[in-house]
Amino acid sequence: MAGNTRDLLLACIFLLINSASAEAPYRFFGWNITYGEIRPLGVSQQGILINGQFPGPTIESQTNENLIINVHNNLPDPFLLSWNGLQQRKDSWQDGVSGTNCPIPPGQNFTYHLQAKDQIGSFFYFPSLAFHKAAGGFGAIRIHSRPLIPVPFPSPDDEYTVLIGDWYTASHKALQDLLDSGKELPSPDGILINGKRSPDGANFTVEQGKTYRLRISNVGLQNTLNFLIQGHNMTLVEVEGTHTVQNSYTSVDVHAGQSLSVLFTADRQARDYHIAISTRFINTTLRSTAVIRYAGSSGPAFEALPDAPSDVDFSLNQARSIRTNMTASGPRPNPQGSYHYGSINVTRTIRLANSAGSVGGKLRYAVNGVSFAEADTPLKLADYYNISGVFRLGGIPDAPPAGGATEEVRSETAVMDSDHRSFVEVVLENSEDGVQSWHLDGHSVFVVGMDVGTWTEQSRDSYNLVDAVSRCTVQVYPRGWTAVLIALDNVGMWNMRSEVWARRYLGQQFYLRVYTPTPSFRDELPIPENALLCGRAAAATSSRRPPVSRPRY
Ligand SMILES: *[C@@H]1O[C@H](CO)[C@@H](O)[C@H](O)[C@H]1NC(C)=O
Ligand SMILES: *[C@@H]1O[C@H](CO)[C@@H](O)[C@H](O)[C@H]1NC(C)=O
Ligand SMILES: *[C@@H]1O[C@H](CO)[C@@H](O)[C@H](O)[C@H]1NC(C)=O
Ligand SMILES: *[C@@H]1O[C@H](CO)[C@@H](O)[C@H](O)[C@H]1NC(C)=O
Ligand SMILES: *[C@@H]1O[C@H](CO)[C@@H](O)[C@H](O)[C@H]1NC(C)=O
Ligand SMILES: *[C@@H]1O[C@H](CO)[C@@H](O)[C@H](O)[C@H]1NC(C)=O
Ligand SMILES: *[C@@H]1O[C@H](CO)[C@@H](O)[C@H](O)[C@H]1NC(C)=O
Ligand SMILES: *[C@@H]1O[C@H](CO)[C@@H](O)[C@H](O)[C@H]1NC(C)=O
Repeated sequence: MAGNTRDLLLACIFLLINSASAEAPYRFFGWNITYGEIRPLGVSQQGILINGQFPGPTIESQTNENLIINVHNNLPDPFLLSWNGLQQRKDSWQDGVSGTNCPIPPGQNFTYHLQAKDQIGSFFYFPSLAFHKAAGGFGAIRIHSRPLIPVPFPSPDDEYTVLIGDWYTASHKALQDLLDSGKELPSPDGILINGKRSPDGANFTVEQGKTYRLRISNVGLQNTLNFLIQGHNMTLVEVEGTHTVQNSYTSVDVHAGQSLSVLFTADRQARDYHIAISTRFINTTLRSTAVIRYAGSSGPAFEALPDAPSDVDFSLNQARSIRTNMTASGPRPNPQGSYHYGSINVTRTIRLANSAGSVGGKLRYAVNGVSFAEADTPLKLADYYNISGVFRLGGIPDAPPAGGATEEVRSETAVMDSDHRSFVEVVLENSEDGVQSWHLDGHSVFVVGMDVGTWTEQSRDSYNLVDAVSRCTVQVYPRGWTAVLIALDNVGMWNMRSEVWARRYLGQQFYLRVYTPTPSFRDELPIPENALLCGRAAAATSSRRPPVSRPRY
């Protein structure tokens, strides 16, 4: 803890120094990654701890702040952290996935230089290599608005982080072995809320009459989770950095990898109430509870818990009701509605279909028939150092193979190329029975349409071109489609992936290179001075590495 105090002091000193200049403040974090015993489901297992904690510490920050995170890897395995939703403008060098960064070797450290540039909202970080995410190493990221930027609701009396996710008692290595051997994962063993499960689950204390913000992230491996608070409705106020129209819901669906904020007011009789979190879209529902405890509670929660909704329609209708509050500010003082995404011409349509198939007799998942093969060198480094033969540009076709997604799958380190500042329509097509969840690093996307059935050009007539929500992770319903519009305004190498972790691990991902032929530090920051080098980049580059220093904001 001495280190934390020191980091805090350093951060304070920097805040003082920087308040006088235009440069955004710095916050410093020193994180020690270790294995340690955890028992979230009552069974002892090996977890990934950050400074001894499971889940990891919450990153508190404010729009434009610099986050300097020195990660010491004390695991016996290579390790990386990535940032779900923290965009890293111009800086895919910090993204912390195998396509952008060399792993931090055991016993070594790497310092991420992140910036919450032009962002607000609720996100999370997670370990991206191997199947580490099944062991922990994740935590919440909160980016608060700057003091002078209006937030479209009264300041809540308090905020709670609520990390929810499915969980296995099997070790992450056993799960990885299962996938490596070509098998599917079994059903999860339970649902965790902030790393715990009922009856010894998390307790949230509230005071009568006060209003609380819950920042909920689904950090689990696969399942959509339905979230409800007994006897209390919730007002949705934020989805992955967009202030939403403030609708009231009795329960909300949070798909794998998604984050959102709700407000609820403790306006009932002072006793205990349950939070219930239930799996969706699978046959055997798993449910976990936590307790909302009023100060001066007169007793435990006793009412029977309502069932979670079970139909797709409920979820689909709810998703369609989530819209942007056009008059509210986002990270900037001007209204979120002043960016008219609906009147920008689409320069390219990309249709992406997920499929399950096999390569060499083993289960693989694919996008447009291509299952991503990990490379021996991060693609970003290979691109930068002109090392050929690491990946193939144009490896992912812009449309599924004729006849739709097939079980025919080939394995390739495929990169999709795209032009900086192009404005693309991406249609995610799901012909399978499970719900899909897709995430694109470095960007947020306008979710203009989703439905069950098959997407056709006529589906465009139903697009919301006015107040669709902009977010980084979108669901696609079973045998359905979701359409998004994306301004590709962030040069770099960005991971597009399934947030259903076994599917990503077995190939349902690729990289999108957002490219400009006229490189400039205005569009992309230079390679960090502390960049780790590995694979073919380590051998080929020591003499060629240019000694550039990075501009500071
Ligand atoms: C990290 O934790 C391990 C185990 O507790 C300890 O041996 C090591 O010194 C710590 N490293 C840092 C950098 O704090
Ligand atoms: C490792 O940590 C030290 C300080 O503890 C720091 O000076 C160094 O830059 C870090 N290494 C990398 C690669 O970030
Ligand atoms: C939360 O409250 C429940 C019900 O009162 C109790 O059984 C449980 O031990 C509490 N959990 C924690 C972590 O305090
Ligand atoms: C919650 O909302 C539903 C439907 O909008 C309504 O029927 C119900 O009375 C509300 N419950 C509370 C506790 O306000
Ligand atoms: C769930 O049940 C339905 C109907 O009983 C069945 O068709 C489907 O295969 C089952 N799904 C899973 C994942 O077991
Ligand atoms: C939208 O935001 C404004 C603040 O700009 C707020 O007054 C209004 O209540 C919000 N509207 C809805 C429907 O959430
Ligand atoms: C978009 O395309 C239409 C029709 O091709 C054209 O008239 C219009 O000028 C374009 N708008 C912009 C902003 O490029
Ligand atoms: C890679 O090739 C490009 C074009 O040939 C060249 O401009 C650039 O300097 C090369 N990069 C490195 C790091 O050698």
